[in-house]
Amino acid sequence: MRNTVWLLCLCTAHFWCESNTSSVATPKSGSIKNPTANPITTTTAVPTTPAPPSNVNKVEVLNQTETELWLKWDKVNNNNSYNYKLRNNNGGEESSIIDGSDTLSYVEYKVSSLSAGTNYSFTLFTEFKGVNSTGFPFSAVTAPSNVNKVEVLNQTETELWLKWDKVNNNNSYDYKLRNNNGGEESSIIDGSDALSYVEYKVSSLSAGTNYSFTLFTEFKGVNSTGFPFSAVTAPSDVTQVNVVTRSETHLQLKWTKVNNDNNYNYILKDSNGAEVDIAGSDAGTTVKHTVSSLSAGTEYTFTLLTVFEGVRSKGFQFSEVTTINCAASEWTVSHSTIEAEVQGVFTTATANNGSEVNGLVVGNKVSFSNLYPGATYSVSLYYELGQEKLSQCSHNLTFVTVPPLVQNLICDGRDYSLSLKWGEPDGVWTAVEVNVSGKSSNVSGTLELIVAGLQPAKIYSISITTLSGATRGLTQLFSSCQTQSTVIWVPVLVIILLGLLAAMGVFMLRRKSQLLSKVHMPMYERHSDTGPSQDKFKAISVKKFPDHFYHLSRDENREFTGEYLQFSTVGADLSQHEAILPENKSKNRFIDILPYDYSRVKLSTRGQNSDYINANFIPGYRDKKMEYIAAQGPLTSTVSDFWRMIWEQKSERIVMVTNCIENGKAKCDQYWPQDPSPCRHGDLLITMTSERKDTDWIVRELIVKNEAKSEERRVKHFHFTAWPDHGVPNGTQELIEFRGLIRQHIHSSRSSGPTVVHCSAGVGRTGTLIALDVLLQQMEREQAVDIAGFVHRMRRHRPRMVQTESQYIFLHQCIKDCLPQEKSEEPIYVNTASPAIIYENTAAITSNYRN
Ligand SMILES: *[C@@H]1O[C@H](CO)[C@@H](O)[C@H](O)[C@H]1NC(C)=O
Ligand SMILES: *[C@@H]1O[C@H](CO)[C@@H](O)[C@H](O)[C@H]1NC(C)=O
Ligand SMILES: *[C@@H]1O[C@H](CO)[C@@H](O)[C@H](O)[C@H]1NC(C)=O
Ligand SMILES: *[C@@H]1O[C@H](CO)[C@@H](O)[C@H](O)[C@H]1NC(C)=O
Ligand SMILES: *[C@@H]1O[C@H](CO)[C@@H](O)[C@H](O)[C@H]1NC(C)=O
Ligand SMILES: *[C@@H]1O[C@H](CO)[C@@H](O)[C@H](O)[C@H]1NC(C)=O
Ligand SMILES: *[C@@H]1O[C@H](CO)[C@@H](O)[C@H](O)[C@H]1NC(C)=O
Ligand SMILES: *[C@@H]1O[C@H](CO)[C@@H](O)[C@H](O)[C@H]1NC(C)=O
Ligand SMILES: *[C@@H]1O[C@H](CO)[C@@H](O)[C@H](O)[C@H]1NC(C)=O
Ligand SMILES: *[C@@H]1O[C@H](CO)[C@@H](O)[C@H](O)[C@H]1NC(C)=O
Ligand SMILES: *[C@@H]1O[C@H](CO)[C@@H](O)[C@H](O)[C@H]1NC(C)=O
Ligand SMILES: *[C@@H]1O[C@H](CO)[C@@H](O)[C@H](O)[C@H]1NC(C)=O
Repeated sequence: MRNTVWLLCLCTAHFWCESNTSSVATPKSGSIKNPTANPITTTTAVPTTPAPPSNVNKVEVLNQTETELWLKWDKVNNNNSYNYKLRNNNGGEESSIIDGSDTLSYVEYKVSSLSAGTNYSFTLFTEFKGVNSTGFPFSAVTAPSNVNKVEVLNQTETELWLKWDKVNNNNSYDYKLRNNNGGEESSIIDGSDALSYVEYKVSSLSAGTNYSFTLFTEFKGVNSTGFPFSAVTAPSDVTQVNVVTRSETHLQLKWTKVNNDNNYNYILKDSNGAEVDIAGSDAGTTVKHTVSSLSAGTEYTFTLLTVFEGVRSKGFQFSEVTTINCAASEWTVSHSTIEAEVQGVFTTATANNGSEVNGLVVGNKVSFSNLYPGATYSVSLYYELGQEKLSQCSHNLTFVTVPPLVQNLICDGRDYSLSLKWGEPDGVWTAVEVNVSGKSSNVSGTLELIVAGLQPAKIYSISITTLSGATRGLTQLFSSCQTQSTVIWVPVLVIILLGLLAAMGVFMLRRKSQLLSKVHMPMYERHSDTGPSQDKFKAISVKKFPDHFYHLSRDENREFTGEYLQFSTVGADLSQHEAILPENKSKNRFIDILPYDYSRVKLSTRGQNSDYINANFIPGYRDKKMEYIAAQGPLTSTVSDFWRMIWEQKSERIVMVTNCIENGKAKCDQYWPQDPSPCRHGDLLITMTSERKDTDWIVRELIVKNEAKSEERRVKHFHFTAWPDHGVPNGTQELIEFRGLIRQHIHSSRSSGPTVVHCSAGVGRTGTLIALDVLLQQMEREQAVDIAGFVHRMRRHRPRMVQTESQYIFLHQCIKDCLPQEKSEEPIYVNTASPAIIYENTAAITSNYRN
């Protein structure tokens, strides 16, 4: 028993040394003289109060969840006589006894029902027979909770913006993101700021991929189980869209699948934002899609989006155009031109007859000029879209230009027949249809025809039409082909012949070259109105024209001035009585521009209406009578007379070469309606049905309805707007083109009513335009022009025609600019001696008449 007590003392002493080091100053045990200083040594206490056991050395946290902690510690002194108690200082409660009596050297203990992500403070007591140790304090943290959800704010092809709410709205937690595709973890995502959420950008990703991520909440080195989620990056755009077929209403598109992946779908968006979903899931590496219900000849812009798991790409933008039905437009075809106004987009045009010609495209209008008469042309329109040249007419249009005219018809009269010969038409032709007094025959392969079975001494009228396949050219009329008289009337004939020969002798002195029996159609027949000086004018051949022009313009246009001056007295012998009658005086715009009586246009007289209007008939090419009417611009008081003239003369066109107001002065009354509402002038109701404006002219379609006769006619109004009064236009080209329009209309119309031309006075610009039209016809048919002769002739029909010298020079300039380009003459321009002079003088003239 004593022995036992001692051992207990030893143990007590040991405990003392360890636990009460603060009391080291106290003398060593063994002294029992001071019971108060050392009550433990009291023998009476020994059996009832054993010395308290030691604390554990350390506590290890094996693992943790959000609610549990697994703890492990080595048993005190590796002795299984001790039990343990754990106090949770956060909860304040103590565990029940943890039994340490098993044979192991350590204790594993699970703490449950804890809160997630919390730093718990514990004290572990060692207990031996009801006496516990001082307690071993330690702390351990539970695993934090996962976030509730992760939101994808937006994404690009390589980045994802993520957002999540902080766990428990507590900024003590940090986060870590693991990319399960890459396997790598992000660095710590700090959650310590004051916000309640975290926004985080993931970079360096691949486009159009479904990424799987795990987001861990981290608290003091311990992480949550991880919140798994997936997010997709935006897919890439297609790199190109091709058009398989284009039509007027459809576009079939085709593109290569992005990444060759069938999981991507597509959205085609038009410029209005309307969208069409297109599946990309079927087999194959390309996707085809047809857009329908489109308008012809329209450029459309589309955006093609790639869609992956509901996420869209940026979008690939491209443009395409639908084709045009060119055949639906109205095409005007003449000898050498093809023209149309085509609805729909196109930028270039070609006409091909084996060799290709480029057309002139202005807005919606296309025109080809200098084409080969009678040739077959394929017309194609194109649209340049970026680098691509797209064919806009899905079927090429084919036209045969109007076949050429026969040249130089020679009519040789015999007794009962006519021998006709003509020059080779200049262009493509297959036959020439000759019609003599109602009988017509087709001639091909030869340039002559003998028409037999005719009556002698009779004048026949011949019409000739050139054909190119089924296309007919213009019909040319020759009205003075005469058969010879027979010998039955020999005596009479001899007498007549003698007289005729005498007359001929005189005639031959003037005209040496013409043979008696051959009538080579001259430009002008002789008429009583031919003035005395007509004979001195000679046509200048086109070859000689440049020299002639040069000659006239030398020394500051000295020769021009001289030639022009001689017109000043023409017509002085012709009467103008009607114009100055008191009732007519007020109908003249200018007191000095009055029509000659013999050539004036007479209106029908009804009631007290006078027959007077300030207008004259002017002959056309080959002296075709009454081809033109030159008139003054109507006054407010003469508008009704003007329209009456149009109706009575059956004119189908009015050419206006002035503006109503110029430099603030009234030049002409606005005699046609300004808008679609009709205007009444006497019995006539005028309606405008269309108006087409160009840079230099306006073309209007008018309908003139005679209410009394309930009959209506179309009248085309050609209005040239770019010509200053007394002056001349800036260049010749506009007027030449304008004249071409008028000529085309004359050719295409059936009736032969005169073309009414007016400016303000109806002499200067009017005369220049008429002269240009006639002289260009002469040039085309005869390869020669007689400008002075024709101006002289016009002045015998209406005074002051071609009113200024500058207009006279301008007329020459126009002719010069229309001369056929002959290659054989090119050396003249490369000749070292002359070109500079020619060029300089041309320039001088140009600047002169622009003033
Ligand atoms: C934690 O440790 C204990 C004791 O080793 C073990 O039984 C338990 O399975 C562990 N839990 C986890 C989640 O690792
Ligand atoms: C364990 O401790 C008790 C009490 O101090 C003691 O009696 C016993 O001998 C010890 N056992 C071992 C194996 O040390
Ligand atoms: C955040 O969590 C820590 C650790 O669990 C805790 O100490 C703190 O009180 C919490 N703060 C708030 C505002 O809940
Ligand atoms: C837990 O809190 C205690 C103080 O209460 C501190 O000493 C200890 O370092 C904390 N534990 C961790 C892992 O931060
Ligand atoms: C263990 O000791 C602590 C103080 O050291 C005391 O609060 C506790 O009640 C004791 N427990 C037991 C079972 O004796
Ligand atoms: C995506 O969201 C982030 C965070 O709100 C923002 O900063 C960024 O501008 C957004 N990006 C796009 C392309 O909308
Ligand atoms: C991404 O893939 C996972 C499976 O890996 C799937 O559950 C999820 O629906 C996919 N995400 C989308 C947006 O389809
Ligand atoms: C977080 O936990 C996961 C398993 O739950 C583990 O793989 C990962 O290494 C842990 N990360 C950290 C930083 O502890
Ligand atoms: C095509 O037109 C050219 C003139 O532009 C002409 O020389 C040629 O003979 C024409 N060819 C055919 C096949 O008509
Ligand atoms: C149209 O004509 C061009 C040449 O003029 C030719 O290359 C093209 O194939 C033709 N197109 C059609 C549809 O006939
Ligand atoms: C021939 O000309 C006459 C008048 O010149 C005309 O009446 C007739 O229709 C023409 N015949 C043909 C077949 O062209
Ligand atoms: C001449 O040829 C044209 C075109 O082939 C045809 O229309 C016309 O009837 C022919 N005329 C005669 C008289 O054979």
